[in-house]
Amino acid sequence: MKKIPVLLMGCGGVGRHLLQHIVSCRSLHAEMGVHLRVVGVCDSKSLVAPVDVLKEELNDELLSEVCSIKSTGSPLSNLGASGGCQVFNGSEAKRETEEIAKLLGKSTGLAVLDCSASVETVEILMKAVDWGCCVVLANKKPLTSSLEHYDKLALHPRFIRHESTVGAGLPVIASLSRIISSGDPVHRIVGSLSGTLGYVMSELEDGKPLSQVVRVAKTLGYTEPDPRDDLSGMDVARKGLILARLLGKRIVMDSIKIESLYPEEMGPGVISVDDFLHNGIVKLDQSIEERVKRASSNGCVLRYVCVIEGSSVQVGIREVSKDSPLGRLRGSDNIVEIYSRCYKAQPLVIQGAGAGNDTTAAGVLADIIDLQDLFP
Ligand SMILES: NC(=O)c1ccc[n+]([C@@H]2O[C@H](COP(=O)([O-])OP(=O)(O)OC[C@H]3O[C@@H](n4cnc5c(N)ncnc54)[C@H](OP(=O)(O)O)[C@@H]3O)[C@@H](O)[C@H]2O)c1
Ligand SMILES: *[C@@H]1O[C@H](CO)[C@@H](O)[C@H](O)[C@H]1NC(C)=O
Ligand SMILES: *[C@@H]1O[C@H](CO)[C@@H](O)[C@H](O)[C@H]1NC(C)=O
Repeated sequence: MKKIPVLLMGCGGVGRHLLQHIVSCRSLHAEMGVHLRVVGVCDSKSLVAPVDVLKEELNDELLSEVCSIKSTGSPLSNLGASGGCQVFNGSEAKRETEEIAKLLGKSTGLAVLDCSASVETVEILMKAVDWGCCVVLANKKPLTSSLEHYDKLALHPRFIRHESTVGAGLPVIASLSRIISSGDPVHRIVGSLSGTLGYVMSELEDGKPLSQVVRVAKTLGYTEPDPRDDLSGMDVARKGLILARLLGKRIVMDSIKIESLYPEEMGPGVISVDDFLHNGIVKLDQSIEERVKRASSNGCVLRYVCVIEGSSVQVGIREVSKDSPLGRLRGSDNIVEIYSRCYKAQPLVIQGAGAGNDTTAAGVLADIIDLQDLFP
């Protein structure tokens, strides 16, 4: 049986689903001849690890306990040292996490998983790469900071996987990687990469006002707690940047043109969420309604997309033909159109649910299994 040691950073919606998938796939993985050995789980403040990470693992019972503690919103440290595991807190957790990565990276191999939403993990990830660890990310931030960080993380392409950073479980990165490695030049990528904005744009198409659509989306739980986090386009820009960097483009976040759906004077630092939802956003209804009508008279619909072409990445509202894969998109699905030499007149299209804890965690799990040949 091939053993893959894994260390999980981040135990929120995605991290917990991942632990559940690992446990429920035990017999499937056994049939495949692999076993995932969980040697550490971290939240923002603590690390839980077995006493001897070379020989022991966190057993399934303990992993379930970790999930139930974290799902009540409690810190991991509530677990207390029990059943042969240790809990490290604060700076000690950080130091111990590094110790594990160093020890296992250089011996049995280790997959370090980033299911946090933090910029802070990049430091340990870079060290882990140096120590020979593999890295699997759902977190976009380490890949969208400086080019120096990116180059370091992507130094050994066989050792890094990050399928879930773009389109959750959809095989966007895998498909694009295959096109790239076959030497087929990619001319253009157009993607609707936010489930929230996909939903908003398709509701606008039905003639509903923006303010109403956003309020409903928030009630349905489709948006971040502050919907402006979706409407700013920042998350889409991060995904666009990841795809552009995969294509070899030397681009930083600051060079991306991002169209925010609200003006600066309605920003989070200026007015409250409530004020935005009740007084601010209605002022935006009319101009967007006019744009929807104008598009319609051209046989088009509006989509909030990221466009990667030449050396530029642009993020914002575009008119697209009603009769294209993007134009036919409805609801909160994501879609990516890839145009290359082989996919010239008709693009390669990847479409489906682009968010959700379950799907995202499934993408991370498939990434880990994809690394199995790197383990003894
Ligand atoms: N959910 C989706 O549909 C989806 C789709 C695609 C990608 N993603 C990405 O997946 C990641 C996880 O999403 P989520 O919804 O699970 O987030 P979440 O619920 O906010 O969970 C984040 C977790 O990371 C932990 N954390 C924060 N800083 C950390 C650090 N420095 N080291 C280790 N752990 C740290 C948090 O600890 P505490 O519990 O102590 O706060 C928390 O457990 C995000 O980057 C997100 O963008 C999510
Ligand atoms: C994902 O998990 C988080 C944290 O448990 C939860 O608040 C959120 O509703 C979940 N999202 C979905 C789509 O299930
Ligand atoms: C970490 O904190 C928890 C709860 O406060 C405690 O039970 C545990 O002993 C601490 N671990 C260490 C190594 O100090």
